[in-house]
Amino acid sequence: MMEARAALTVDAVRIREVGPRDGLQVEAPLSVEDRIRLIEALVAAGLKTIEAVAFVSPKAVPSMADAEKVVALLPKLDGVTWVGLVPNRKGAEMALDAGLDAISVTLSASEGYNQRNVRMSVDDSIDQLRDICGLAGEAWVEAVLSCSFGSPYEGDIAPSEVAAVARRCMDAGATALTLADTTGMATPRRIEEVLAATGTRVGLHLHDTRGTALLNAHTAYLAGVRDFDTAVGGLGGSPFAEGATGNLATEDLVYLMEDLGVETGVDLDRLLDASRLVAELVGHPVPSRVAAAGPRLNNPA
Ligand code: COA
Ligand code: ZN
Repeated sequence: MMEARAALTVDAVRIREVGPRDGLQVEAPLSVEDRIRLIEALVAAGLKTIEAVAFVSPKAVPSMADAEKVVALLPKLDGVTWVGLVPNRKGAEMALDAGLDAISVTLSASEGYNQRNVRMSVDDSIDQLRDICGLAGEAWVEAVLSCSFGSPYEGDIAPSEVAAVARRCMDAGATALTLADTTGMATPRRIEEVLAATGTRVGLHLHDTRGTALLNAHTAYLAGVRDFDTAVGGLGGSPFAEGATGNLATEDLVYLMEDLGVETGVDLDRLLDASRLVAELVGHPVPSRVAAAGPRLNNPA
């Protein structure tokens, strides 16, 4: 799968932080000011690509309302890319009008999930993706393919079928593609099977529903994947899939990568500050294990 993502010349991974979007979408709505506080804490931790908002129906996802207000207050910083998730052409128009230069288009390898999530067929989503790529000009358009490792509605989806939908997204003009494990159905074996069909020039968006997210990320890293979505604290989940739970926690991935000597650009201590802040804002502890335990004490040199 050829993508516009540059190859990395050093041993590093790129993290797209989705906490302000995926992480907050199933929580009670926060104020615009608190959403900005969280975003600022993530920037302070070194995150360079942040999915800050979703341009979706506020009736469908109340906590994602007021995306324009959040975008207007985003800090103007060189080297930080702000991403908005969109479900359709209307959302993309709103995101581009608001001034975003990167959008994630959510669609699915699963017909049942696509219908519930964005209320159209997979074919219609791909048609809208093609329109969006036409509107987007130079903006980055990431196609994010939900349920790539299995669907709560259809069960297993053949890797060849996932690869075929991924190919159609790229043919429609997407800049890059992310495979999402929306309800945590991936396992290391399934990660390897799907990557064998799609190639490893893809991003991964993992959920820890069954405790396999970090294991899956490690497997994918060893296979050659270098782009990961994570959410601070391990918050998150889809309101449109029963039993969906949190994302791979940013602090858990950073902790593992640091130990492997792989650059993330993220300062774990500052990230844990952001994690404490998000727990305070949502009013409950976060699922991340590293957030609970703290970093390990390294032996003095
Ligand atoms: N953002 C905001 N409003 C939108 C919109 C968008 N991207 N797309 C459509 N709408 C509005 C329409 O203007 C219309 O408004 P009105 O009632 O005031 O006239 C209303 O929503 C219904 O439009 P319609 O095209 O019939 O949409 P729908 O009811 O079939 O819902 C979605 C389709 C995609 C808008 C809705 O299902 C949605 O927002 N899903 C979000 C999914 C999501 O965020 N999932 C989690 C992340 S993966
Ligand atoms: Zn998700």
